[in-house]
Amino acid sequence: MCGIIGYIGKREAAPLILRGLHRLEYRGYDSAGIAIVSGEKLFAVKSAGMITALEARPELKRLIGNIGIAHTRWATHGEPTEQNAHPHLDCKGEIAVVHNGIIENYMELREALQKRGHTFNSETDSEVIAHLIEESYEGVLEDAVARALKLLEGTFGLAVVHTGERKVVAVRRSSPLIIGIGQDEMFVASDVAAVVEHTSRVVHLDDDEIACIRQDGFSVMRLSGEMVEKRVDKVEMSLSQIEKKGFKHFMLKEIFEQPASITNLLRGRLKDGKITLTPNLGLARFERVIFVGCGTSWHSAIIGRYLAENLAGIRAEFEYASEFRYRKPIVTNRDLVVVISQSGETADTLGALREAKKRGARTLGIVNVVGSTISREVDGGIYLHAGPEIGVASTKAFTSQVMALLLLTLYIRQERGLENDPELIREAAAMPAKINAMLDNLDVIKNIAREFASYKNFIYLGRGINYPVALEGALKLKEISYIHAEGYPAGEMKHGPIALIDDGFPVVFIVGNDAQHEKVLGNMQEVKARKGRIIAVCSEGDTDAARVADYCITVPQTSPLLSPILNVVPLQLLAYYVADAKGLDVDRPRNLAKSVTVE
Ligand code: G6P
Repeated sequence: MCGIIGYIGKREAAPLILRGLHRLEYRGYDSAGIAIVSGEKLFAVKSAGMITALEARPELKRLIGNIGIAHTRWATHGEPTEQNAHPHLDCKGEIAVVHNGIIENYMELREALQKRGHTFNSETDSEVIAHLIEESYEGVLEDAVARALKLLEGTFGLAVVHTGERKVVAVRRSSPLIIGIGQDEMFVASDVAAVVEHTSRVVHLDDDEIACIRQDGFSVMRLSGEMVEKRVDKVEMSLSQIEKKGFKHFMLKEIFEQPASITNLLRGRLKDGKITLTPNLGLARFERVIFVGCGTSWHSAIIGRYLAENLAGIRAEFEYASEFRYRKPIVTNRDLVVVISQSGETADTLGALREAKKRGARTLGIVNVVGSTISREVDGGIYLHAGPEIGVASTKAFTSQVMALLLLTLYIRQERGLENDPELIREAAAMPAKINAMLDNLDVIKNIAREFASYKNFIYLGRGINYPVALEGALKLKEISYIHAEGYPAGEMKHGPIALIDDGFPVVFIVGNDAQHEKVLGNMQEVKARKGRIIAVCSEGDTDAARVADYCITVPQTSPLLSPILNVVPLQLLAYYVADAKGLDVDRPRNLAKSVTVE
């Protein structure tokens, strides 16, 4: 949700921060801008569209200087025009601000500033920040920022520069921000991916901390004025992990990385039929587990409930984080709230986590990004170790989340003194090889994608643990191909969606090899009788499903509880090849952002 970066050092700032900005493009890509402090002057260039549009601007050549900030935007307030792109400047053109977040009280602040004579150049909420700092400025930028912040309500990650001072001031409230420590140079960015090329030493800012970053060091103070000693963390990510390595898109690369990401998740956690998880939260004592997340992570949450009920025999619920946080959820210290988030920064999931803690629940995070806000605020957690996921459509994080949920629920089972099924453990360990086998032959999926790329509507149906897989398949297709796709429980089809079925309406069935197999076959017959065209994802050897379906994609046999991991892979690939056949920008679908740090 908007990416920000800043630099101070000896090198030319513009090319450096633009390269870093590209690494943040997954956070938003509808407009971009940069400001460089050059001597006593400030130069800014902004552009609608992606960063490449900004880079094509001839004025960029005039941006000479060693201090700068830049921004890639996901619009909230104001259309994605050049005017609304960041950085925003004060009236005198001495202060530049880039902002990630939302200023909730900007209307009243703007009116008051206008009455006091300030001129606004954009429709954004962010511009008030530049003018407030201008009013508070008495010669020390961080003090002016601190004074301005006291008037702001909402969320922000900010980087600010002033023509008169050799520093970048950075502040965080709810929107992620890190400081990168280089050799005679320093960075500030929304995410470590933007700086990993230059340094592996980073500091994670916490809420209401103001950092004053100079070429040779930094200091951090709280909004209340006291200084804070920050820990320097070592970055795990490497540059090669955030490059495409010959794949056409990050999404395809990440689909292919799933055998490795699941292997990484299992490493050290599955041994001799036993699950090892740290830290030990005393999981056996909880009476209920509530899984929360957004988007793809919410689909994992649904699977979490199936696994918890089936394996751990524990009461379980799932919920959208954005709903959970605004209900009055009745939770106690006998409840475990499991927050699932790839990025660890999603505002609603973070809000749900804080609400759960406030109400006394214990919390556990299933998170991919190491050091992210959620990972730091939960009582305990399971890192996915899936490596950076850059394609906006989540793929490898989903399969790793499902595997992490399996480990978690098996672990609770163990803690409750119940035996684990050795066959299920063997199957879990076999998942990477089974996914690899599927990735070896993509012709069937490519052909189906070519044939159906021009259709306008799809419905995805599944039952039981494969119902969330249907939701995930539909989400992947709509996110990147802009085709209307709905996911539904197959048994519910007859209560409404069946009215849609005709020969122009492809229906994707996820046919589990489980107790509901016959029921799904019955649902397929109902579609066939109405001339619907059926694409079935089914297990190898499922001749019954193959006979009814028009097209069949087979996956290796496995335990029903692990089937979501195998069944989702063809659906990820189907969405990918449809979007690619339509010539769409798969990694940067319109209107979306990977990390949604606003509500
Ligand atoms: C955004 C992304 C989705 C993602 C969701 C939750 O909407 O576009 O792909 O599933 O956020 O993200 P999280 O990082 O919390 O898993």
